[in-house]
Amino acid sequence: MKDKLKQLQELREKSKLGGGQSRIEDQHRKGKLTARERIDILLDKNSFEEIDMFVEHRSHDFGLEKQKYPGDGVVTGSGMIEGRLVFVFSQDFTVFGGSLSEAHAEKICKIMDMAMKVGAPVIGLNDSGGARIQEGVVSLGGYADIFLRNTLASGVIPQISAVMGPCAGGAVYSPAITDFIMMVKNTSYMFVTGPNVVKTVTHEDVTSEELGGAITHATKSGVAHYACENEVECLQSIRKLFSFIPSNNMDDPPFKQSKDSPYRKEEKLNSIIPDNPTKPYDMKEVIRMIVDDSDFFEVHELFAQNIIVGFARIGGYSVGVIANQPAVLAGVLDNDSSIKGGRFVRFCDAFNIPLVVFEDVPGFLPGTEQEWRGIIKNGAKLLYAFCEATVPKITVITRKAYGGAYDVMNSKHVRGDFNFAWPSAEIAVMGPKGAVEIIFKKEIDKSEDKELAIQQKEQEFREKFANPYVAAARGYIDDVIEPSETRNKIFKALKILENKVDTNPKKKHGNIPL
Ligand code: HXC
Repeated sequence: MKDKLKQLQELREKSKLGGGQSRIEDQHRKGKLTARERIDILLDKNSFEEIDMFVEHRSHDFGLEKQKYPGDGVVTGSGMIEGRLVFVFSQDFTVFGGSLSEAHAEKICKIMDMAMKVGAPVIGLNDSGGARIQEGVVSLGGYADIFLRNTLASGVIPQISAVMGPCAGGAVYSPAITDFIMMVKNTSYMFVTGPNVVKTVTHEDVTSEELGGAITHATKSGVAHYACENEVECLQSIRKLFSFIPSNNMDDPPFKQSKDSPYRKEEKLNSIIPDNPTKPYDMKEVIRMIVDDSDFFEVHELFAQNIIVGFARIGGYSVGVIANQPAVLAGVLDNDSSIKGGRFVRFCDAFNIPLVVFEDVPGFLPGTEQEWRGIIKNGAKLLYAFCEATVPKITVITRKAYGGAYDVMNSKHVRGDFNFAWPSAEIAVMGPKGAVEIIFKKEIDKSEDKELAIQQKEQEFREKFANPYVAAARGYIDDVIEPSETRNKIFKALKILENKVDTNPKKKHGNIPL
């Protein structure tokens, strides 16, 4: 037995060494951690339970039969994040560049299947040269097996992808189907075709970083939700993200009491809206003043900054915040912000996370750029997402709620549960200037002093419509509240809605305008 135990120990050590010491050093030289070092940072201390560390590839071509590494380029298993079960796969670049073989894919599929059975999230740490070239179509099949599982698990268990090295070709589509993508600045990249192919096809000179680095995907394409400074920050961000979300779609998100009283009044909010309605203010300040301990975990921070999305807690309840940002493009809705907002709303709805909306929106952005890129179908994504959501839905209109954007942003008409407005709210079909130029055109044209006539009509319109009371008189707004008491009002609404049940008609699935 002693010998057998020794053999087991040796095999384990061999598996843990992946592609060997010198390749581990190469990995460190590139500023990257190894697959196992990453798992150690991601999970609670000593909680990792590895499986399949003796799995080997079965390829006999191109001399591969002489190169076998137990584990075959991916470390898989389960562990805890703040005491909650998660499943993990972590690709090992030191073994054939982390490339995906049939056996490597089977290991990933095995933990995904288990995660689905027990209702626990899957975190993928990607660092791979893509399909194992020597295995050909078998490797492609392995990817497809993963894509299918990603899709079937979507909306059932949360799936998080960290891209911590190369992720190219069809391999990008596994992270793309998952709920969140974290990337690391300067050491990770994602693209369907790399710089060489781009040069051949379009004659563009572009580096990997420019084409598909973390900043590119966090700012330009919106593919990445986070561009982290380094791998440690990336792994810690995943831990933080998990603190707000449930383990599966049947669970509630974790409730975490804080010392911050839910009844706290925030007097500063009473003076945050500028007297001049065209002046911006920072909606993130509003959010931080309202949520527990000013702790707002923003998602997609660098993309479509005219809308803000992220997680926070109010009185201990985890919430998904969606807010227009008047400090960027006046908070207007456009293609990118609609897509960003829509996807976030759907994540929250799938995972029982109440929605809290802060609204200050002058409408949809006009222009050929917007129309030709499909603002009709993209705006409809956000509208559809709010309409179909059945989680608790709370809206606070801080200032503007104009036009279609009023309807879209979780209005009473799309099943908003509690719709509050600050006294500064302006709820109308359009802003006073645009409105009077249309409805009083003839009258203004006839008047001797046109400027004065416009001003008078604008004032008249403002008094009549640019306030919350017309909507409140119809019950579209449940209450007009003092800004300072917003936290308290939202907390009470969340408490009332704690056991809310609402459903959509039975169907195979809806047809969101993709
Ligand atoms: C087999 C691979 C590999 C792969 C890398 N390696 N990629 N082995 N299959 N796909 C091996 C290398 O031979 C090398 O082995 C080791 O991994 C490290 O690779 P290097 O090239 O030395 O590292 P680096 O310079 O950092 O470059 C990394 C890289 C490059 C950019 C990822 O290796 C690369 O371009 N690889 C090929 C990428 C690719 O085209 N993959 C197929 C994409 S298509 P040794 O023994 O020398 O250390 C795809 C389809 C998916 O993935 C389809 C799903 C639908």
